[in-house]
Amino acid sequence: MNEPIRITRAATKKRKPKDSELTFGTVFTDHMFVMDFQEEKGWYDPRIEPYGPLSLDPACAVLHYAQAVFDGLKAFHGTDGKVRLFRPQQHLARMNGSARRMCIPPLDPELALRSLVELVGLERDWVPSTVGTSLYVRPTIIASEPFLGVRPAKAYIYYVILSPVGAYYPEGMNPVKILVVDKYVRAVEGGVGAAKTAGNYAASLYAAEEAKHAGFTQVLWLDGRERKYLDEVGTMNIMLKIAGEIVTPPLTQGTILPGVTRDSALTLMREWGLRVAERQVSIDEVAAAAHGGTLEEVWGTGTAAVISPVGELAYKGERIVINDGRIGALTQRLYDAIVGIQYATAPDTHGWTVEV
Ligand code: COI
Repeated sequence: MNEPIRITRAATKKRKPKDSELTFGTVFTDHMFVMDFQEEKGWYDPRIEPYGPLSLDPACAVLHYAQAVFDGLKAFHGTDGKVRLFRPQQHLARMNGSARRMCIPPLDPELALRSLVELVGLERDWVPSTVGTSLYVRPTIIASEPFLGVRPAKAYIYYVILSPVGAYYPEGMNPVKILVVDKYVRAVEGGVGAAKTAGNYAASLYAAEEAKHAGFTQVLWLDGRERKYLDEVGTMNIMLKIAGEIVTPPLTQGTILPGVTRDSALTLMREWGLRVAERQVSIDEVAAAAHGGTLEEVWGTGTAAVISPVGELAYKGERIVINDGRIGALTQRLYDAIVGIQYATAPDTHGWTVEV
């Protein structure tokens, strides 16, 4: 599909925040990408228009049955002055995977990539340049058909919004404290845990609020059946270094998000010749390793969070402190390697970046 993207420019421009003012997801740029779908026409009318509210019928399916998927990726201002998206094709492939699971018609990969490249290109002045800041890109698909029966909708809107961001966690690169929950579950085998779909995030809020009130930044979810094996944090995948081996929960159960940063970290660590296993790891194994002095490092990987050190895991009233609450050497190495590729201070030997 070589359909041209129609552009309507915003009449006025917003004030751009200074890099030092950036938080996560509070400020949006001047334009957005929009495209519609109708059963008879397929996806049509790709366009860039001024950022603003969408007009939705109150009966539309997404507002009732949460038929919605999204993804999250970033554009970086390299030290060479160029703007690059990090692994956009992987993010779009994942979004199409999420879409299929939620009975949403997938996007043409080539047009979807152009939607990101052209929008970010138009908004390139919004890409902040300080290391640690970026332009967060949020492609989203929602069911727009007004219909209250429960079946896949026949009309959708795909849109992309952009937000200049700083660190996701207020802690920045300081290790976060995470509560391991066994009272609630996020996903079960056969469910939608591997899809980036809105309802997964709504379902996580109650446990996250409880954790926050108890002084934790995030929740670490255990598997839904035995409540024993680590799944993910909800905003990031989890990795641990135990007795020299790196372990991370596998994708095979279909209960965790196939993280793009997870994949980048695994690829790099395998290239570095480290021992890496994608396998189930129980919370008891983690506690035993901590007691035995072999729990060396724990960190999370995610687009928003990048590489985020975990300083403490709390489980059943016990506080497991990792590496004295300091960032570990491997965590730091991974952060430096990924950030180096993103800001073009290191060569992109994997072809992960796409110049805008
Ligand atoms: C991301 O890392 O991009 C996410 O989507 C996590 C969260 C902000 C929803």
